[in-house]
Amino acid sequence: MKRAGRLIVVEGSDGSGKATQSRRLTARLRRAGIPAARIAFPGYERSFFGRAVGRYLRGEFGGAKSVDPHLAATLYAGDRFEARARVLRWLEEGRTVVCDRYVDSNKAHQAARLADDSARAEFLDWVDRLEFEVFRMPRPDFTVFLHVPHAQAHELIGRKGRRAYLQGRRRDIHEADARHLRRAEAIYLQLARTRGRRRGALIECVEEGRLLSRAEVARRVWEAIPKGRRGGER
Ligand SMILES: Nc1ncnc2c1ncn2[C@@H]1O[C@H](COP(=O)(O)OP(=O)(O)OP(=O)(O)O)[C@@H](O)[C@H]1O
Ligand SMILES: [Mg+2]
Repeated sequence: MKRAGRLIVVEGSDGSGKATQSRRLTARLRRAGIPAARIAFPGYERSFFGRAVGRYLRGEFGGAKSVDPHLAATLYAGDRFEARARVLRWLEEGRTVVCDRYVDSNKAHQAARLADDSARAEFLDWVDRLEFEVFRMPRPDFTVFLHVPHAQAHELIGRKGRRAYLQGRRRDIHEADARHLRRAEAIYLQLARTRGRRRGALIECVEEGRLLSRAEVARRVWEAIPKGRRGGER
């Protein structure tokens, strides 16, 4: 009997290489004979809520300080919910689904906007319930956390080409805020530490101040995912 597919998530702060590495991982899975599909969140052009996320990131709903994190998180969760049927179908078909960002992005980026620890803890739990219980998104089998310290990540974001959702701007309201990137990085590290070895891995992408090559990071990502979590078993 064919077993249901696996859900693998690539996470990490802005500019850490999620798009690059989720593409390489999908290609690597296919080369290994494992049927794979990739999806990126948010779907800025793809969904009703994704378009609303774009408006939020351009500041059209108010500045980063005036939109409550719970409300902003609901837009991102709505975008994922719109992709839910497709993701579930892929899993039923036995494919490994690789996500460029998922629920942890919502947790890290929106909790980063809360100043105190207890409000953050409450919020992380709220997002977990919103996405996994209310919207019933499937839980990831494995999460790869790419770690690029915020200083280098900030530089990589600056290198990015034009992005449609920004409509000519260079950085969105989160990326423009160095303190936000620092806080989001700290929450990602906390999420990675508490995930457990069978469910996630932290990949250091910078060594001795040097960013590793895309190929080297890809090799580490592949090695970090236990065989049984890559999918393709029958
Ligand atoms: N290991 C690497 N070495 C050098 N450049 C890299 C590396 N990984 C990614 N890049 C480049 O850095 C930029 C950001 O990478 P990418 O878009 O994959 O990151 P991301 O995590 O998806 O970013 P975002 O969070 O903003 O969506 C891209 O121009 C990419 O080509
Ligand atoms: Mg990206």
